[in-house]
Amino acid sequence: MSAQVPSDPTPRVTASALGAMKAAARPIVVLTAYDYHSARLVDAAGVDAVLVGDSLGMTMLGHASTLSVTVDDMLRATASVSRAVSHALVIADMPFMSYQADYAEGMRNAGRMLAEGGAQAVKLEGATFDTIALVEGLVSAGVPVMGHVGLTPQSINVLGGYATQGKLAPAAAQVIADAIALDAAGAFAIVLECVPAELAARITALVTVPTIGIGAGVGCDGQVQVFHDVLGLGQFVPRHAKRYAALDVEIDRAVTTYAEEVRSKAFPAEEQSTHMDVDVLAEAEILFAAEYADEFDGDLL
Ligand code: KIV
Repeated sequence: MSAQVPSDPTPRVTASALGAMKAAARPIVVLTAYDYHSARLVDAAGVDAVLVGDSLGMTMLGHASTLSVTVDDMLRATASVSRAVSHALVIADMPFMSYQADYAEGMRNAGRMLAEGGAQAVKLEGATFDTIALVEGLVSAGVPVMGHVGLTPQSINVLGGYATQGKLAPAAAQVIADAIALDAAGAFAIVLECVPAELAARITALVTVPTIGIGAGVGCDGQVQVFHDVLGLGQFVPRHAKRYAALDVEIDRAVTTYAEEVRSKAFPAEEQSTHMDVDVLAEAEILFAAEYADEFDGDLL
């Protein structure tokens, strides 16, 4: 007699499933998350992939750029997101200098994102000769890799700012070459950040794997946004972001009201309080005087 195995109504999204979505022309939804609670909400809302981005340096840790983010920062965030997500693909960003200096170190750090962080894939920036070799090595070792070209924030000091990349022909040709190299190396998807919409659409047609745009127009196979930007929690809203809620206003209203109610003693009210028999309290005071009062060097009651 065969056991009845109930089918999972919302099976886990895999890296290869994103490729099937490109083939079916079904736009791919990716959003960042950095902690258990936000990841739980994002997953329940039905995104296809959750990116634990190194943007957490700014959104969660208050750094000025992503350059200060460490492997430990990413592992802690990825593990908390992985504990919350049951449907979406979890992708962990490889932080600055966790893979650029040494091939073996890059392999090991990426492995940790899966083994300790519980991610199903990693993302790394750029398409230098060494990065392409690493992508090939990771994919052969069983680590799905998302590429990231165009504006690569870990290279901010070389790029000189967060401006749109690939506006002139030589730069556009370089972005095309980078995307094609990542596709050939086995990346399962490629983030196109801050490139002109026309260039992104052309790359999307040229590569076999899904392109995921951020500031790259509607012609990509999917879009990725930063949690804080779409929910209205960011201090600075980039031009490519759209606020779908004003949680900053909501939080201000809630915290201001809480503070007012604490100060006016409207909180806690009866419904947030519990009570005891006054005789029990009187008995406790007698017990306290008998057993503990000496320890307090004075008459407290
Ligand atoms: O770190 C991040 O959030 C990212 C996205 C902007 C693609 O890399």
